[in-house]
Amino acid sequence: MADEQHTVTQVTKAVIPVAGLGTRFLPATKSTPKEMLPIVDKPAIQYVVEEAVSAGLGDVLMITGRNKRSIEDHFDRAYELEEALRVKDDIDRLNAVRESSELAQVHYVRQGEPRGLGHAVLCGAAHVGDEPFAVLLGDDLIGARETLLKRMIEVRQTYGGSVIALMEVAPEQASLYGCAAIRPTDESDVVTVTDLVEKPPVGQAPSRWAIIGRYICDPAVFDVLRKTPPGRGGEIQLTDALRELARSGPEQGGPVHGVLFRGQRYDTGNKIDYLRTVVEFACDRPDLAEEFLPWLRDFLAEHGTDSTE
Ligand code: UTP
Repeated sequence: MADEQHTVTQVTKAVIPVAGLGTRFLPATKSTPKEMLPIVDKPAIQYVVEEAVSAGLGDVLMITGRNKRSIEDHFDRAYELEEALRVKDDIDRLNAVRESSELAQVHYVRQGEPRGLGHAVLCGAAHVGDEPFAVLLGDDLIGARETLLKRMIEVRQTYGGSVIALMEVAPEQASLYGCAAIRPTDESDVVTVTDLVEKPPVGQAPSRWAIIGRYICDPAVFDVLRKTPPGRGGEIQLTDALRELARSGPEQGGPVHGVLFRGQRYDTGNKIDYLRTVVEFACDRPDLAEEFLPWLRDFLAEHGTDSTE
C-alpha cells in the first residue's frame, strides 16, 4: 500500500559505485577502469550517467577508488582539448567532448578499499543524507529506450521502502546473481520481495528472478549496512542489507519491492556481454550501421554459426 510519509520524499540523487577491481576484464583493467571501456565511442559509465539524468537524477555521486582518476577527468572540462578543437572549428567533436562535463553535477568519494558493493554504497551516506536514493552499477547498461529507473522511482513513491530491478534468467544462470523470493502484487510488473540470496548454489535459487544493477534504496539501508558483516567472498553485500529490509516493517525501512524488467540490459564487466553490447550499439547507430551491418553479415556468412567448423 502507498505510504503517505514516503510519497513526499522525491528521489533526486544517484549513487554510482565504480571502485571495484574489474578482475574479469584483466589485463585491460590493470590501469583502466572497466567503467571507462568504450561502447563504440563513449565509455560505459557515460551511458549510466545519461540514464540517471533522464530519470530526473541530476545529482550523481560516484564511489571511486585507486586507478579511477580517468572517470573524474571524463566528467570534467578538458580545456586544452576543447581549445584545439575550437581552433580547428571542429564543432561536432567539441560538443561531444563537452557533453559529458555538462550532463550532471557529479561528486566523488573514495572507497579506500574495495570491500564490496554494500560498503561502496555506505561510503555515500554523508552525501545522500536522509533521502531515498538510486544506485546504478557503473558497468551495467540498460537500453536507452527503456524506462526502468523512472518506473522504479514511481514504485518507491507508491509503496515506500526500497525497490530492486529483477530480470528472469535461466535456472543454471541464477547462481551468478543475487536472486529473489517474490510474491505478486496487483500490478503485473511489481512484486513484493520476501527474501534475497546472493549467488545461490546451483539448484537452490528461490526463483528465476535475478537482481540487476539498479536499486532505489530507503536511507534506512545505511544503518543496516553499518551492521552488515562481510558475506559472500568476504565482501559487504548490498543484497544482505536489502534482505534485512525485505523482512522489516515500514518503521525499520521495509518493505522491498521488485520491478520485473523484460527489456535490454548489458553487463559490460563480462567479456561476452561487452562484445554483444558494442555490436548492438554500433548496429543501432545511423552513422555506423550503414557500413558496419553489411560487413557483419558477410563476416557471419563466412564464419557460419557453428564455431567448431
Ligand atoms: P562487480 O562485482 O561487478 O565489480 O561490482 P568488480 O568487483 O569490479 O568486478 P570483477 O568481478 O572483479 O570483474 C559491481 C559494481 O560495483 C562496484 C564495481 O566498480 C562495479 O561497478 N564495486 C564493487 C565497488 O564500487 N566497490 C566494491 O568494493 C565492489
